[in-house]
Amino acid sequence: MFSIEFSLPTKIIFERGSLSKVHEHIDNLGAKAMVIMTRGGSMIKYGYYSTLRVSLEKAGLKYCMFTDISSNPRSDEVERAIAFAEKNGCDLFIGLGGGSAIDSAKAVAATLASGGKLTDYLRGKKEFSEAYPIVAIPTTHGTGSEVNKYAVITDVERKAKVSVVSKLIYPKVAVLDPETTLTLPPTLSAATAFDALAHALESYVSRRTNRLARMFAAEAIRNIVENIEVVVKRGINIQARTRLLWASMMAGLAIDQSRTALCHAMEHPISAHYEKVHHGMGLAALLPAWLKFTLDAAIEDFVEIAEVMGLKVTTMPQRYIAMSVYDYILKLRNSIGLNVRLSDFGVSEKDIGKFVDDVLDYMRPLVYNNPKVPTREEIKKLYLESL
Ligand SMILES: [Fe+2]
Repeated sequence: MFSIEFSLPTKIIFERGSLSKVHEHIDNLGAKAMVIMTRGGSMIKYGYYSTLRVSLEKAGLKYCMFTDISSNPRSDEVERAIAFAEKNGCDLFIGLGGGSAIDSAKAVAATLASGGKLTDYLRGKKEFSEAYPIVAIPTTHGTGSEVNKYAVITDVERKAKVSVVSKLIYPKVAVLDPETTLTLPPTLSAATAFDALAHALESYVSRRTNRLARMFAAEAIRNIVENIEVVVKRGINIQARTRLLWASMMAGLAIDQSRTALCHAMEHPISAHYEKVHHGMGLAALLPAWLKFTLDAAIEDFVEIAEVMGLKVTTMPQRYIAMSVYDYILKLRNSIGLNVRLSDFGVSEKDIGKFVDDVLDYMRPLVYNNPKVPTREEIKKLYLESL
């Protein structure tokens, strides 16, 4: 609990309207910026890209944009982004959007600087030796990637959605402008906030947790439960949006300390094989089964979480208090429209064998970070329960 190493090389700007002031924080970071966004075009449609462009011009920077990135970023797309960056002489990488844009910016910045193929890094054959500066501008309240050392990319040949971990990919600057989250539609608002909630819950109970991770995670949980329903019902509530963006950053700091655990380990294979599945939706389908499986191994932690959530915890036995977290999550999923099952995404029983293989292959570190480590059969059962 008291064995902690904390060094965050990221300058955090958290302020309404800060998107128009990016130039104040990127002095001498580079000469030509590449702004990476996802294919959907919402950053352009809602004017966030043009606000950023004006700011980059004020900084005297040249820039170009790359928008050929999926919401679950693929290695072939990131390889194309690297080639594009090389051809255009870019030396500063700005992720504008959700985790996909930020993680792609991280992967491009580090692969281009370190040399070689992206897949060598995704497959653990090589480690990054350097990285160009990265600026992260999250416009969703889910990822937390703006303040941590992870980038999640799907290796398309292996159909494996892997996390690259490197201290070199901490963004130099994270610009969090709550106003950029106002246009997020209700389903994405719910799914991204649910991702942040899963980060916080898994971090809080994980084997690698520590007091600092729990402090960040508790702050995230408190802010999410107080604001998630408000935002899904009324997306333009800037106070609630601000608190959710704050919470997702806190959860990002929590997992930077502790990583996630079994629920994330089980989600990655789903959105690797079913690329259209939003990561937060996949987590929403799995979280109830994960909670039920994990509760008994971390009852005291879940009692603390129940208190943080503001659930009634007076004279009940501890196990009942811990169970109230499970009951709350079920109710929350209903009220924010995330009452989903894996079968809703087209997943069927025949997929489960390969999912379990994947979990025990490239997601193994997160499996062992769970308070209760499952057997192969137990993982299969958890998928079946979520089907
Ligand atoms: Fe996540």
